[in-house]
Amino acid sequence: MNTVTFPDGPSLPRFVQGGMALAAPLWTMRRLRDRYGSAFRVDVPIFGKAVVISDPAEVRQLFTTSPEIADNLDLNLGRVLGPHSFFAISGDAHKKQRKLLVPPFHGRRLRAYEAIVEEEAVREMATWPEGREFATLDSMMRITLNTILRAVFGADGADLAALRELLPAMVKLGSRLAVLPIPRTDLGRWSPWGRGLAYRREYDAIVDRLIAAARQDPRLDDRSDVLALMLQSSYDDGSGMSRDEIADQLITLLTAGHETTSTTLAWAVERLRRHPAVLRRLADEVDAGGSDLREATILEVQRVRPVIDRTARQVRAPSLRLGRWTLPKGQVVLVSIYLIHLDEALFPDARRFNPDRFAGRRPDTYQWIPFGGGGRRCIGAAFAQMEMNVVLRTLLRDFTLEPTSKRGERWHSRGIAFCPAKGGRAVVRRRPALRSLDQDHATAAERLRGPDGQESQVRHRQAGDDQRRCLGHRP
Ligand code: HEM
Repeated sequence: MNTVTFPDGPSLPRFVQGGMALAAPLWTMRRLRDRYGSAFRVDVPIFGKAVVISDPAEVRQLFTTSPEIADNLDLNLGRVLGPHSFFAISGDAHKKQRKLLVPPFHGRRLRAYEAIVEEEAVREMATWPEGREFATLDSMMRITLNTILRAVFGADGADLAALRELLPAMVKLGSRLAVLPIPRTDLGRWSPWGRGLAYRREYDAIVDRLIAAARQDPRLDDRSDVLALMLQSSYDDGSGMSRDEIADQLITLLTAGHETTSTTLAWAVERLRRHPAVLRRLADEVDAGGSDLREATILEVQRVRPVIDRTARQVRAPSLRLGRWTLPKGQVVLVSIYLIHLDEALFPDARRFNPDRFAGRRPDTYQWIPFGGGGRRCIGAAFAQMEMNVVLRTLLRDFTLEPTSKRGERWHSRGIAFCPAKGGRAVVRRRPALRSLDQDHATAAERLRGPDGQESQVRHRQAGDDQRRCLGHRP
């Protein structure tokens, strides 16, 4: 075996390093980078003594290394999301699942989901107060949750309502369990693990109903939701996805896609209010039917405020020669998305929010990495960008977002993702030309709830159609 070599790192006691990484994770990363350069070794809770890298050449090498040499790091996610979840599988099983599940999130398929996103955005924004400051994060959460439930689960009616109730609590508990040690004995149904199992039973029952209904749906071929596509897809040997694979992957897609997208949207609001010139240009662009600046803005929000600050790999081969180091089997390597995005050599004036840096150019795959990279790159990246684009377009088209001279909101860790500490606060005014139509939206949103206070998918679709008609949207 090659001699193992590690980058330098602090020699502080383990609990001090761990405490700093927990209490001030981003500050700690910056300090260590300033002290040791782009690679260092530090004790991080959950990951242990990890090597952190942020040099694009080393990042590229790690991302493109074969999974037999370095692959994902399974924390407790297999127990929380299920053994078939993307986060729990590796090797051939992982390749097979990606082959099947990458297509639903690309190209023509994506366009089918745009209408759902817009409908959810219009409906949620109809509830926004005018002229009074409020946090947008909860709204963004509802938009992305409802979008995934409809676009991915194909849920409707009572099942949609039940999942909407169950899943936020289940995901919140799951993200805590993912970092807790697994108990050796059964601690009973009131313990966190016991509650997790109860949620999972409830979830499984709903998924079984959705699968049974889809199998009997005579229009299954015409459906564009990911569940319908899963049921119709097959592996190279002709076999289909099993029921357990479908259930585990559906909850994985929701867990991975919901909070990440909504926190990025809340950051977009936070950044734009502090950059009035960009905001004005975006409003002009939306009126003219353009999208270039909006797309560049989303790229820049993801660069300056990456909601996932790192991604991890673990050495699987006896050793891995990575850049200047030789790492042993089992070594955890963290790619610091946060540090690479702050690199002055890659992004001059890196702390400045400047969407024009992406005007007319696509970012480099190994320098702009909010979605990670290589064979494990986020499969929902194009879906998330479409969703953020449609939500921002709707916001800019229907509202004036008021600028502010207040200090930027601080970063707050929600466990999975970083969000603006005050939830991306906004002050909005309905745009005058559309005022009366927006009042129609509010009425439409009220109608969706119905006399029983429950939302009906049929009412929902009808209202969406009305709204598109009255705003002259393209179908
Ligand atoms: C702004 C929104 C999002 C961000 C910032 C984000 C970020 C990430 C990151 C950093 C990874 C790890 C990649 C790596 O290790 O190299 C990842 C993986 C993943 N993401 Fe996303 N994601 C977002 C939205 C979504 C959406 C909307 C979905 C699906 C609907 C999704 C599904 C997944 C899945 C399934 C994986 C695991 C891929 C694998 O292991 O092969 N994500 N995401």
